[in-house]
Amino acid sequence: MFEADRYRPERGVIVVFGASGDLTQRKLVPALYNLADQGLLPEGTALVGYGRSPLTDEAFRERLRDGLDRHSRSRPARAAVWDGLARRCFYQQGAYDDPEAYGRLKARLEDLDEQFGTAGNRIFYLAVPPDVVAPILRGLSAAGLLERQRPCPDEEGCFLRVVFEKPFGRDLDSARRLDSVIDRLLDESQVFRMDHYLGKETVQNISVLRFANSIFEHIWNAASVRSVRVTVAEKLGMEGRGGYFDSTGILRDILQNHVLQLLTLMTMEPPASLAADAIRDEKVKVLRCLRAPRGKELVRSVIRGQYGRGAIDGAELPAYREEEGVAPDSDTETFVGLRAYIDNWRWAGVPFYLSAGKRLAETLTQVAIEFKEVPGVLFGAMEGVELKPNRLTLRIQPDEGVSLRFATKVPGLRLDLRDVEMDFPYGSAFPAASPEAYERLLLDVMGGNSALFARRDEVELAWQFATGILDGWQEQPPPDFPNYAPGTWGPISTEMFFAEHTRYADAPNPLKAGR
Ligand code: BG6
Repeated sequence: MFEADRYRPERGVIVVFGASGDLTQRKLVPALYNLADQGLLPEGTALVGYGRSPLTDEAFRERLRDGLDRHSRSRPARAAVWDGLARRCFYQQGAYDDPEAYGRLKARLEDLDEQFGTAGNRIFYLAVPPDVVAPILRGLSAAGLLERQRPCPDEEGCFLRVVFEKPFGRDLDSARRLDSVIDRLLDESQVFRMDHYLGKETVQNISVLRFANSIFEHIWNAASVRSVRVTVAEKLGMEGRGGYFDSTGILRDILQNHVLQLLTLMTMEPPASLAADAIRDEKVKVLRCLRAPRGKELVRSVIRGQYGRGAIDGAELPAYREEEGVAPDSDTETFVGLRAYIDNWRWAGVPFYLSAGKRLAETLTQVAIEFKEVPGVLFGAMEGVELKPNRLTLRIQPDEGVSLRFATKVPGLRLDLRDVEMDFPYGSAFPAASPEAYERLLLDVMGGNSALFARRDEVELAWQFATGILDGWQEQPPPDFPNYAPGTWGPISTEMFFAEHTRYADAPNPLKAGR
């Protein structure tokens, strides 16, 4: 979106580490296919999957094709487009700490440059657990594959970029260690820290809503806002990712990144320009002022949960502790709900309710801003009338849209008031399907535009917030898990927590602003 014309995507070889994991099949290759289908993928772009499992090029392509059939937004795939792309997909087997394997990779990349005219342009995409990131960077560097250079999109053969999938580290210390390895080997301009939420259309629209309209800015502050809720709820459970999730938990998996990204975009000051660093400077300022609950406040203001056995839509579901790859006595949280404050001039005193959870009643991501009540005079003083505060809800997904709740007179001879919603649904306003986040983000990497990626200080400050909570949990007795049933909105205390602090919480659903 931002300054798009300055960043023309260029052909290169994309090397995906961790290619036998499901991100490549589910997201990356469907995104490349859809770009190719729209004529947006630079001609000659090639993909090399690098992984430990032995696979031939042919078997790799079959896997990718299968992923496309199951996960692409435009199905069935058009044969001509897929064949064209498949011919440029290859697989390279290798361990992450084997110098010879990096030597073989180098030779292969040089071959591909000859075949496709990719002129040495490289994107290394690290879709691997955080503990193997540093070994991969060292391996690439030792093989002469990692050079510190500035991207210069107007000349051929000069870009080298590295994409880091989340989670970037697992706490503040490990993120800092990773950053210092990166610092020794690359310029920050070559580094793309992925948070795919930033590529979602509705997330990009947050800045447009705020800064391309004049009516919101002067009420976007503590004088007018009473509370803000940011919710990322999923019906899904582990989906085969139990091993990863059990050592991660929802605070690291979703709150530290996706939820905080939504929060900073909602609350940052207007940036000086739309340049990547101008936006990131403002997000960083918010994170510097974000106060994590500590000590006694942590007990009062943070709820963690883990799902037990139960059923959703009639299907019997295992408890989290029974999921494949999860320890039977695991204390990993699958739900977190907390209240935080942003101690700056604009937001001082406004409570921010942040929550994320698996196996909840619905899959939805939304941000809801509740405004202050009208004074207790006129309609606000009428007997039997309970005026609810105005509320602006940004429905990030699914059912994307924006709605505003306000009071209106019920037609008739009596003076009755009722709340109604004014709604803008994406689906009917813009019939064309939105691109997937990964399409936008891969194109941005190919063009060297890092506006929709997280910067080093941003990620570290987000970890500082999350690590404060994780450390606090260490000092508390282990929770009494499981404490919520699949298909609910989390532990029962969530409802009380939200009801206690938000007078007009939408019981029985504390996390979702209803329409
Ligand atoms: C990922 C998390 O980052 O985001 C997953 O690791 C989660 O646990 C996913 O399911 C949600 O993404 P989306 O785009 O489906 O909301």
